[in-house]
Amino acid sequence: MCGIVGYLGKRPAQPILIEGLKRLEYRGYDSAGVALCDGTRLSVVRSVGRIGNLQQRLAARGDDPSSLGIAHTRWATHGEPTEINAHPHTDASGRIALVHNGIVENYASLKEFLVGEGLAFRSQTDTEVLAQLVGYLYDGDLASAVRAALGRVQGTYGIAVISADEPGLLVAARKGSPLLIGVGDGEYIVASDPSAIVPHTDRVIYLDDGEMASITADAVRTVTLDNVPVDKTEARVELSLEQIELDGYEHYMLKEICEQPATLRNCLAGRLDVRDGRIQLGGVAAHLRQLATSGRITLIGCGTAWHAGLVGGYLFESLARMPAAVDYASEFRYRNPIIEPGTVVIAISQSGETADTLAALREARERGALVLGVVNAVGSTIARETDAGVYLHVGPEIGVASTKAFTGQLAVLTMLAMTLGRRRHMSIGMFESLLHGLSKIPDAIARALEQSDLIRGIAARNVERNNWLFLGRGLNYPVALEGALKLKEISYIHAEGMPAAEMKHGPIALISRGTPAVFIATRSEQYEKVISNMEEVRSRGGRLIVIGNEGDKQVSGLADEFIPVPEVPEPLAPMVNVVPLQLLAYHAAVIRGCNVDKPRNLAKSVTVE
Ligand code: AGP
Repeated sequence: MCGIVGYLGKRPAQPILIEGLKRLEYRGYDSAGVALCDGTRLSVVRSVGRIGNLQQRLAARGDDPSSLGIAHTRWATHGEPTEINAHPHTDASGRIALVHNGIVENYASLKEFLVGEGLAFRSQTDTEVLAQLVGYLYDGDLASAVRAALGRVQGTYGIAVISADEPGLLVAARKGSPLLIGVGDGEYIVASDPSAIVPHTDRVIYLDDGEMASITADAVRTVTLDNVPVDKTEARVELSLEQIELDGYEHYMLKEICEQPATLRNCLAGRLDVRDGRIQLGGVAAHLRQLATSGRITLIGCGTAWHAGLVGGYLFESLARMPAAVDYASEFRYRNPIIEPGTVVIAISQSGETADTLAALREARERGALVLGVVNAVGSTIARETDAGVYLHVGPEIGVASTKAFTGQLAVLTMLAMTLGRRRHMSIGMFESLLHGLSKIPDAIARALEQSDLIRGIAARNVERNNWLFLGRGLNYPVALEGALKLKEISYIHAEGMPAAEMKHGPIALISRGTPAVFIATRSEQYEKVISNMEEVRSRGGRLIVIGNEGDKQVSGLADEFIPVPEVPEPLAPMVNVVPLQLLAYHAAVIRGCNVDKPRNLAKSVTVE
């Protein structure tokens, strides 16, 4: 997704802007640019491709002392990834520059109006329309011109704007696309993500939708689009730099896979009390009674978060005996969902900025549902727009492919299901047994991680094969889906996940000699049936890559490739069984020379619908 960085202060802006863009690289982009103001004029430099290309352009110009600037990494929505479409965009005078995340949905009608007013356009973007509109409305007061322009905009935006005619001012505004203001010592850094701010300060002001900030050397003045002043309080960013750095790993994804024992301990810390036999989920404590008596729970999310929702749905039904629906957030929103008094919607999101999930939760709230969040990014839009929620506390997830957030989501949903179960039908004995089992999951994941070299070998032996099937039953069905998604999105090998029983209803036609079929065959109620499914594939020449419990001779004897994992209580198994699949995808991608942390076409947070 696009990244925004802006700077106003005493230091040269250029190096701060470039460093900020580099910290946002993980979000995925295809072009980049900066605009600098030296007090009298604007310089705009843009380039296609990686930020290194932009740096070369800037180096050719020599050092720039400007202490005001804005910068952007673009993930193309309107218009090809070209230099002319890259941000910043300027108005007709070239004295106002603007960077934008989001989509101006009525850009065509605005463009038609401005053309009718005699303005000419250079790019194919919606953002240039916004920049030109600000210039058209500018009469010496940049903040007023920006506010007036945004009043005509339909759609979403996070923007930063500067003008050569007001060199001591940086304007920022947001609606539907995150933006925050880092508060330094006599300097301010605007960014779409805290990781661009953390190297300079941990003091931040979060802009909310419909707010606009005028930033000068001595203050930040925030108003609504109706020019009503808004008092904003400073918050502290929890991120630390070392959490962001690679910490010696080759890729963020491998770091985040391998740190799961630690991140899961963080997620459970302060919540899981084995000694006293309790779970404390402070963020939702006030709503547990409504949750436990709700006649309808719907879990919503996208991608990996949706897979976590599927596991959550199984667990709410099996542990809490509560009906739970699971829906893609994008489908939920447009499905005219039934929301009755007492309905609870649980929005799952690592980034807390996914547009589909945000739109769906807004729809649910609009209709009176109690909306809870299971979110990783502290202070994110989804986290701030739900009625309550539980943070994952697994730290920033940089790799585009979600890994530690997935196991964190599963841990939170498991604790929630156990908590509700204990309020309903679950015996103390079962609760305490699961509590003990959950406390051991980080160790079990650590054991599963020990198979990384074995899994690299399996990847190497199979990486040339295409059209992989991922198969599991019960709680291992969503794990199969997650394994297929991981492989697809970072190694570009096509893969499909499905319930193992479903294979015989059509997909088994895909099996030919050597077709890779990844089975999750850990001990469970449906263990014997999974073995039958493995036999069906084997008898047709398929290649069995199987995740099974340590020492399981029956499964390992059937498999062409066997990956052992420790046995844990069945409701907790998805957190362990997914780890080999994460490693399999990772190693396959590395062997294929793919860009593991920044896979093609993908973004870390999809903030457009
Ligand atoms: C997962 O590996 C993908 N990167 C993607 O499916 C992701 O899970 C999805 O876009 C949802 O993101 P969120 O959890 O930040 O809302």
